[in-house]
Amino acid sequence: MNIIESIRSLQKEKNAIILAHYYQTGDIQDVADFVGDSLALAQWAAQTKADVIVLCGVHFMGETAKILCPDKKVLVPDLDAGCSLADSCPAEDFAAFVRQHPGHTVISYVNTTAAVKAITDVVVTSTNARRIVESFPRDTPIIFGPDRNLGNYINSITGRQMLLWDGACHVHEQFSLEKILELKACYPEAEVITHPECKQPVIQVSDFVGSTAALLNHTMEAEKNCFIVATESGVIHEMQKRSPAKMFIPAPPNDSTCACNECSFMRLNTMEKLYNCLKNESPEITVDKEIREKAIRPIRKMLEMS
Ligand code: 13P
Ligand code: SF4
Repeated sequence: MNIIESIRSLQKEKNAIILAHYYQTGDIQDVADFVGDSLALAQWAAQTKADVIVLCGVHFMGETAKILCPDKKVLVPDLDAGCSLADSCPAEDFAAFVRQHPGHTVISYVNTTAAVKAITDVVVTSTNARRIVESFPRDTPIIFGPDRNLGNYINSITGRQMLLWDGACHVHEQFSLEKILELKACYPEAEVITHPECKQPVIQVSDFVGSTAALLNHTMEAEKNCFIVATESGVIHEMQKRSPAKMFIPAPPNDSTCACNECSFMRLNTMEKLYNCLKNESPEITVDKEIREKAIRPIRKMLEMS
């Protein structure tokens, strides 16, 4: 049996579902039952009847699935697949920030640890952040964490003045405005499409800003045939599959000697690790019961509002 057949056979044997984020490598996306953005992964986890969920993504995505499905086994192929954005917001520091600003509603991006979610009023993803922020009366004082770029972007399009935690993603902060403009000069017909975790100058020269799922939908619906894609380059796999005749150019990072438009954490997962984790039912995600019982509320609230 080849590795794909072996994964399929283990999946059947264990009644397991494989969920993958768009930033996984193409081979993992192709073997997955569902590929989606962080909101879709949470939604699928919440409704699956499988006994085992293999979350091909990063740690916080596995935690979210485990919080939603405490009785299921949730596996992530490589437990070291973390997130620089989640790491930029330690729970104790965020709790102190919240204490310093009493009376604020706390809105947290899903890219956070379970402990941060436990002190959050409502979780958002980049797909629903605008809608959820705008569901609160205009004068509601809001703390938004941890992504300063997404927070700034939501402030700019909603006219809110949310108080922002000063965190960021090391991949999305790397894109070079200069190189994007150079590419745009070479391909004047191309649209620049950008994830809101990018810095403001990149967002300002963009034709479309949205979550990975929104970017993907836009490339299918837009009349344009060429796109400069300012987000983790794994998403281009699905874009190219859905629109084979269109051209997708990964936006270059500042340092042209690195592959900085790939998330080093997401890329820790491989087909071999996926096979092994299904075979051994390990590594498994666990979440402390007390934290889980608090973190479920803002996640459920998000799902209700999405
Ligand atoms: P979305 O999948 O919500 O677009 O988020 C991108 C991301 O950085 C996930 O870590
Ligand atoms: Fe985290 Fe950035 Fe990787 Fe997304 S791309 S998982 S935000 S480090």
